[in-house]
Amino acid sequence: MQPGHANNHGNVHGGWIMKLADEAGALACMRHAQHRVVTIAIDQMVFRQPIQIGDLIILTAEVTYAGRTSLEAEVQVIAENPISGDRVHTNTAYLVYVALDDNGNATQVPGLTAENPSEEERMQEAEKRQAHRLAQKRK
Ligand SMILES: CC(C)(COP(=O)(O)OP(=O)(O)OC[C@H]1O[C@@H](n2cnc3c(N)ncnc32)[C@H](O)[C@@H]1OP(=O)(O)O)[C@@H](O)C(=O)NCCC(=O)NCCS
Repeated sequence: MQPGHANNHGNVHGGWIMKLADEAGALACMRHAQHRVVTIAIDQMVFRQPIQIGDLIILTAEVTYAGRTSLEAEVQVIAENPISGDRVHTNTAYLVYVALDDNGNATQVPGLTAENPSEEERMQEAEKRQAHRLAQKRK
């Protein structure tokens, strides 16, 4: 993170983190879908710690849900001080994308397969989150 990424307090502007998280989640979903994707929903983002200018931001994105045309990515954000090596987990975000075909219409995505009980559990949690989002949308 460079000085151009700072907010008025001299830390990293949250908007940059949101942008990076959105891009990381999109790339994970594009790899899975093998189509371009657009963001349709972002769950709340909680910034647990400020990130310092000069820190390295490490984003880890995993696909946690695949519906018919939609996908959820879980994005972990970690800030590392490149000199001390100290790492802080600053936030976890859940973002939903829709895969698009060449005409810009929503298109079907491959399903997800859990390879162990932990992944199965994560997929079930993601299904609940998506059901909650759609219920909120209907209200
Ligand atoms: C993405 C877009 C093409 C989808 O249009 P659509 O096909 O008419 O949308 P649908 O209502 O059929 O929904 C498509 C999928 O999104 C899901 N979805 C819709 N609203 C949602 C919400 N609020 N939260 C989570 N998922 C949602 C639907 O459940 C569906 O998933 P499924 O096929 O797996 O069941 C359209 O909404 C769009 O262009 N949005 C703008 C995207 C954008 O500009 N993003 C910012 C820049 S990347």
